[in-house]
Amino acid sequence: MKLGGIFKAHQKYAQKYGPIFVARNVHTPIVMVESPELARKVLLQNNYRCVFPNLLHGEDAKFEESTYLDTRGDKLKTVRGAWQPFFFSGSLEGFMALMKDSADLLVDSVEMYARNGAAMDIHAMIGAMTVQVVGTTAFGVNFHTQAADKASEKNSSYVKHLLQAMYDIMAPKAFSFSMYTPPLILFPFAGPLIKRLAHYFPDEGLTRVKAGRQVIIDIVKELLAQRREELAGEQNRIAKGLGKLRASFAEATGERRGVAPGSFVDLLVNATDKSTAYETTANALAFTMYLLSKPENAEKLAKLTAEIDTFGRERVPTFEELDKFPWLEACLREGMRVFPPVPTLTREAERDMDLAGYKVPRGTMLGVAVFSMHNNPAYWQEPERYLPERFIEGTPECAAKPAHGYLPFGDGLRQCIGLRFAIMEAKITLIRLYQRFTFELQAEQDSLELRETITISAAKGVLVKAIPRPPTNNLF
Ligand code: HEM
Repeated sequence: MKLGGIFKAHQKYAQKYGPIFVARNVHTPIVMVESPELARKVLLQNNYRCVFPNLLHGEDAKFEESTYLDTRGDKLKTVRGAWQPFFFSGSLEGFMALMKDSADLLVDSVEMYARNGAAMDIHAMIGAMTVQVVGTTAFGVNFHTQAADKASEKNSSYVKHLLQAMYDIMAPKAFSFSMYTPPLILFPFAGPLIKRLAHYFPDEGLTRVKAGRQVIIDIVKELLAQRREELAGEQNRIAKGLGKLRASFAEATGERRGVAPGSFVDLLVNATDKSTAYETTANALAFTMYLLSKPENAEKLAKLTAEIDTFGRERVPTFEELDKFPWLEACLREGMRVFPPVPTLTREAERDMDLAGYKVPRGTMLGVAVFSMHNNPAYWQEPERYLPERFIEGTPECAAKPAHGYLPFGDGLRQCIGLRFAIMEAKITLIRLYQRFTFELQAEQDSLELRETITISAAKGVLVKAIPRPPTNNLF
């Protein structure tokens, strides 16, 4: 694994200074913690994420201020409560068919490559699938992102622009993307003036980020409008549910610029400094497949295919049957241990705190170095090894697991609300893929280069060849 700047630095500092140290985001100091106990304290006692100064001004700034991900105070519980029903079992079960259809399109796309024995970037292909899943489940909009989808041709320009825009606003440079950022951070009292200057005389970086945000807003709004037309007159359960959800959001936070707060558009546009639903799931899946495809993990893969064959190669699991794949779930959870898709969590100290004997004043920016903690031998035995056994009750590896040391979805009131949605989507996808194929890593993929933004992903993709699985005697 090739590790870049931020996480290598966190690991180095944790080794040198122990589980609490100060790091910097551009010029802003952040008190980082790197032990399970301190992480728990930080995440359970503080409910606000850090808000870093940004250059947006006027309408753009208003949009930013009321996003769900940065919601504070009394609104927080109301808005989180409004989101919650979307993730209850009843709703999740309703999404099974949509997720399965998207996974099957992915399988068809893989098949296209497998037929010619061609290599493919499975990370990009899964990314296209997870965008489609968010679109269909949240809004009943089909983004037609996948290669095997006959309608993808028509929408390919949408998708190309959407993905490019995502990259533009998520790129590492986004943290210091403009010449206006350093003065904004160094001289916060001059913020209003600097923001005005940036607004009227934007430089290249700011123009790119703003254009990316606008592309996302425009594309998603257009797709939603199309879908609304299609739905006119239809009795659509999802659209009705969404209507209720919107009403709760509107009541809790107020509408702005025609985009529902807390909506998919909201999540996407605010991807600059937050985790996003489609990308994290895609990364978790791609990393897990990468690890399962490594020759040294052949035995772990064999256990997975055996578990799937016991269930059946052709059968589609029901919602309840998804619980019958403990090894599959362990493979996924261990994948997120090695490569946590959101490698750093942030909070703002809501009151003065004592952290490992240090007095931390209210308002201090706090961070949890999840990546470093997940890969630290002080907490995890042989952290460099891929051992799904760590997540199988009753094994010695599971007994050795640190309590509270596993945080791919964060913790506390702001823990990932989409946790069950993500696990369900990932399980369906892996089952459908491994029912048909195993995957062989391409030579150049020996070492995985990571792209670090607020999430981590495979910088150059995950290049594999799909190997069709030989027939089995299983009757199903
Ligand atoms: C494997 C996939 C995913 C991972 C690893 C992941 C991880 C995370 C993490 C680490 C956080 C921050 C938690 C904290 O600060 O304590 C978060 C927040 C959030 N995630 Fe996810 N996520 C995933 C998938 C999803 C999906 C599929 C959705 C929606 C469909 C989603 C929606 C959200 C939302 C709305 C928040 C903000 C919650 C709040 O502030 O109250 N996530 N996610």
